[in-house]
Amino acid sequence: MKINTLVVKDFVDHKQGIKSHQLPIYATSSFEFEDAQEAVDIFNKTKNGYVYSRYANPTIDHVAAKIAQLEGLGSDKECIAYLTSSGMSAISSVMLGILEKGDHVITQKDLYGGTTELFNKVLTKSGIDFTYIDLNDISGLKNLLERNKKIKCIYAETPANPTLTCVDILELSTLSKQYGIFLIVDNTFCTPIIQQPLKLGADFVIHSTTKYLNGHGNSIAGVIVSPHVDLMKGAVWPTIKLLGSNSNPMDAWLLNLGMKTLALRLEKQCSNAEVLARFLDAHVLVNHVNHLSLPNHNSHAIALKQMKKFGAMLSFEVTGGMESALRWIDNLKLCTHAPTLGDVDTLVLHPASSSHIAIPKIEREAVGISDGLIRISVGIEDIEDLLADITQAFNSLNNTLK
Ligand SMILES: Cc1ncc(COP(=O)(O)O)c(C=O)c1O
Repeated sequence: MKINTLVVKDFVDHKQGIKSHQLPIYATSSFEFEDAQEAVDIFNKTKNGYVYSRYANPTIDHVAAKIAQLEGLGSDKECIAYLTSSGMSAISSVMLGILEKGDHVITQKDLYGGTTELFNKVLTKSGIDFTYIDLNDISGLKNLLERNKKIKCIYAETPANPTLTCVDILELSTLSKQYGIFLIVDNTFCTPIIQQPLKLGADFVIHSTTKYLNGHGNSIAGVIVSPHVDLMKGAVWPTIKLLGSNSNPMDAWLLNLGMKTLALRLEKQCSNAEVLARFLDAHVLVNHVNHLSLPNHNSHAIALKQMKKFGAMLSFEVTGGMESALRWIDNLKLCTHAPTLGDVDTLVLHPASSSHIAIPKIEREAVGISDGLIRISVGIEDIEDLLADITQAFNSLNNTLK
């Protein structure tokens, strides 16, 4: 064999039985067939087998199966999951997979800004309509369901980004079953360590795995999990395959690596968040704090009902509006100003000028996203260092306000 052949060819012995301790990365776009008949059988679906990584890939499948197990843990239902290229593609793929032109979705006003934009700017073009209400108003919801038979789905994000308002998953799933419609829950802020919507009767769970599940800010992906195996295989998977919204082996591998410490990370993040929430709540330059551990948060009771911990996301309104908020962020020396959440280190963001910039001011203020609101994704640092950084940021702000 000559040099140009040798550099391109990988003569992999598939029968050597190498026992890798860690998950291998199958960085391959396609898979070889044993012989021509095997290809025929796989394409005819009379035999299972890997074909092409947009359809399925062993690294990706391993990670999806692990998340399905986590979300379904302790329930009598077997779940399946598909990894997608991002949290946004998990949302669009499940919606386009299970809904049709003319279908109607009921959802909440305080969704992650990107989700609201996806609904209003993209999915409406496919003939799917959306109504935004308070999903805790069960009688209002019942009213809508009685009047509009085109409603096929309730879409909830709980806790919501960045106000942490929760919706009662069990109440919504009971209602959705009564009316024969689907309930989709975005479980990004909790992960299955804190909350398991499928156990509470939800039909589909989606995640931006980019956040807590990965936890290290080095992978973008999403996941759809459901006990509706036939619907997942028959409607959701073809949508992912044909939209090309599948994940890739490298991001899936990084996600898997990050997930190994998920429970440990969340333990520390949640306890740091509770200390920080109490500290901020007592600070003179803070108007109010949103953290589910605080008994005065409007969703404290729902959180107690359906979450095992209060989570590690919080937000607070600094006095002095947008100018103070931006100045406070610039004063920070340890916490990082970055537009993501759920990483091991503490991150801050000003939603009004970033994640929710496309939401009209009047609409975002109506759901509590004011100009002075700052979001904190609490990390695993020593709490004394976090408190010291936040204290000095307030002290510097106080000096400029004088
Ligand atoms: C609650 C929530 N859902 C979905 C998304 C979208 O995720 P991704 O950025 O991975 O597409 C985000 C992003 O911030 C989010 O906060």
